[in-house]
Amino acid sequence: MLFSFPKPSNSSLLVSKLPRTTVFHPNKMTQFLNLALGVVFVLGLAVVLLIFLNRRGKGKNGDGFNDLERNQQSVKGAEEREDLLTFQGGQDLTILDILEAPGEVIGKANHGTLYKAYLQGSSTVRLLRFLRPVCTAGHDDFVSEIEFLGSIRHPNLVPLLGFYSGPRTEKLLIHPFYRRGNLAQFIRDGNGDSHRWGVINKISVGIAKGLDHLHTGLQKPTIHGNLQSKNILLDRNYEPYVSDFGLHLLLNSSSAQEVLEGLAANGYKAPEVIKMKDATEETDVYSYGVILLELLSGKEPVNEKPAFDEDFYLPNFMRNAVLGHRIADLFHPEILLYSSIDGNNVTEEKILKFFQLAMACCSPSPALRPSMKQVLQKLNEIRT
Ligand SMILES: *[C@@H]1O[C@H](CO)[C@@H](O)[C@H](O)[C@H]1NC(C)=O
Ligand SMILES: *[C@@H]1O[C@H](CO)[C@@H](O)[C@H](O)[C@H]1NC(C)=O
Repeated sequence: MLFSFPKPSNSSLLVSKLPRTTVFHPNKMTQFLNLALGVVFVLGLAVVLLIFLNRRGKGKNGDGFNDLERNQQSVKGAEEREDLLTFQGGQDLTILDILEAPGEVIGKANHGTLYKAYLQGSSTVRLLRFLRPVCTAGHDDFVSEIEFLGSIRHPNLVPLLGFYSGPRTEKLLIHPFYRRGNLAQFIRDGNGDSHRWGVINKISVGIAKGLDHLHTGLQKPTIHGNLQSKNILLDRNYEPYVSDFGLHLLLNSSSAQEVLEGLAANGYKAPEVIKMKDATEETDVYSYGVILLELLSGKEPVNEKPAFDEDFYLPNFMRNAVLGHRIADLFHPEILLYSSIDGNNVTEEKILKFFQLAMACCSPSPALRPSMKQVLQKLNEIRT
């Protein structure tokens, strides 16, 4: 369903209300009335103008979507159309609320910008993803892809609540906002909880469930295509929510390719994938394995300054660590420490099984990687 909200034109509304009466009573009194109505009319226009300017001004302060993309708004043509598509959980969204929301930029990519925005009408904080019009895929499939993504619901997937398309084909995706931020921040600058075995397990299992749903739980199997720890969002209980899935379906091929190059630069790209359109379930599993290694070791997926026998990418680094019997490099020492405090009795043996699972996911050969269902079974075995 496509809802249309044609913009009401304030001035025409005022004009139609005005001075009918004056035409039929051309005496002094009505001339005066005429004048008075004229003054009221002019004042009214001024007020409308002031309100309008004030609103736009507010948008400017907010550094939001409004000022970035709508600052050239001057002439209103007949072709100017705005559409809002809402999905489960997004019924309270309105165009005005979205466009007027004061926003804060929290992420930037070539294909678009991510905002944290406060929607005043519904008093909710939302994640707004603005897609640059030139980067989006051609129009025919676009809305059906959006409707498909908007229909996906799973406890570990970030839902799409709404989709706004503006008069100049600006596109905005609306998602919930998660206060704990993303997993990359949590591992790197977190409070140490990221080394707790219980937390590591919860996050690993949650991501695996979300990914398994994309791969096997939908009528159209869906490849994530951009799985990395910065695209895993966390709530206050460290429950993970996978975001950004299927974004490549909305981008044109060169922009989708840029996403893949970003994935490669960040160390999550499976070695066999060259083009985004060749991404598969197995390439997602590889990215997932890198995330497990990050969780386990607390290390960056890309080692910027590798020492003599170390490798640039985390899976290779780990392979070398195993070969060199550098067990201390395989997992963060605090995992064992916290575990004894928490009383969940993780053993080094369990940690090593977890490590082996991660390495199987990162196997150079796609055929040797487990499916996400097998990953879930394995994680379950390790936990119990
Ligand atoms: C695809 O997106 C890029 C931006 O990444 C843009 O420069 C290019 O013109 C777009 N290509 C097509 C065919 O629309
Ligand atoms: C951990 O081990 C202690 C004894 O070593 C035991 O009393 C406790 O029940 C164990 N906890 C769990 C969660 O298995």
